Amino acid sequence: MTTTVNPYGFRRPHLLGIEGLSKPEIVDLLDRAEANVAVSRQANKKRDGLRGRTQINLFFEASTRTQSSFELAGKRLGADVMNMSVASSSVKKGETLIDTAVTLNAMNPDVIVVRHHASGAVALLAQKVDCSVINAGDGAHEHPTQALLDALTIRRHKGRIERLTVAICGDILHSRVARSNILLLTALDARVRLVGPTTLIPQAFRDMGLEVTTSMKDGLKDADIVMMLRLQRERMNGSLVPSVREYFRYYGLDAEKLAYARPDALVMHPGPMNRGVEIDPAVADGPQSLIREQVEMGVAVRIAVLEAVTGNRNASAVESAP
Ligand code: CP
Repeated sequence: MTTTVNPYGFRRPHLLGIEGLSKPEIVDLLDRAEANVAVSRQANKKRDGLRGRTQINLFFEASTRTQSSFELAGKRLGADVMNMSVASSSVKKGETLIDTAVTLNAMNPDVIVVRHHASGAVALLAQKVDCSVINAGDGAHEHPTQALLDALTIRRHKGRIERLTVAICGDILHSRVARSNILLLTALDARVRLVGPTTLIPQAFRDMGLEVTTSMKDGLKDADIVMMLRLQRERMNGSLVPSVREYFRYYGLDAEKLAYARPDALVMHPGPMNRGVEIDPAVADGPQSLIREQVEMGVAVRIAVLEAVTGNRNASAVESAP
């Protein structure tokens, strides 16, 4: 069987963010992920794209969805997957991020998946190691695989991303998910609206020329997709919202507010959800919700990204060999 290589597709050895990716690169990753969905649904899910290779998951912050789906993705590809527990590592004894990375690099991994609380930490780590690096979320900066799985979920339901109206609602200020989604959705020509209290929408996004509103009624009008974000109280230094009750009243997605959107609008949330804070449980579990499917698409996207970055790294090593 011959495999055709898309010359405009994703050819990078790392995935550090959506920023800087071209439309063909994003579409290439989505197409590769789409091909993994059926495999992940069949009884035998094993493939051998990463057989004999070593994947390290290095998570400095808590995670349920991202870490477990990267682990499953690596195992389905046949990799040896090591989950590095930062809580019991030498980081607790004061070892720096760079020393930790250099130590792990000495064990010759093929790919390191990193989540870190500091924006830019993953890009810095990528400069210090010889293997592929994937950003699993860095501070409020980027969460590229989340944006890819969101786009894959949307595309499977709506058949396209172009010209859809996507309302991203809530705590945009602290959200790496929002940032990666804004970059990806605009690159794919969606119409992105930001909805939330003024205190939770950064000036940088207003400067990008995106539609911004403090009103859920205006923001959800004719929306095809309503993407809710978690209120990240742990990242707030001051009081950016008056109270959780007040927040739910104005910004919590319930059936009444969802009715402002198109009748066939779909509801998304990257998780973890705060039920009764940014979303009513009846909507989260309702017929318009794609929240569980987002989790399923996470595995398909992470298989695609793991295969792509490691394959590209190997290809560039062969090309640069004397
Ligand atoms: N969406 C997301 O990143 O979830 P986790 O924090 O559980 O990985």
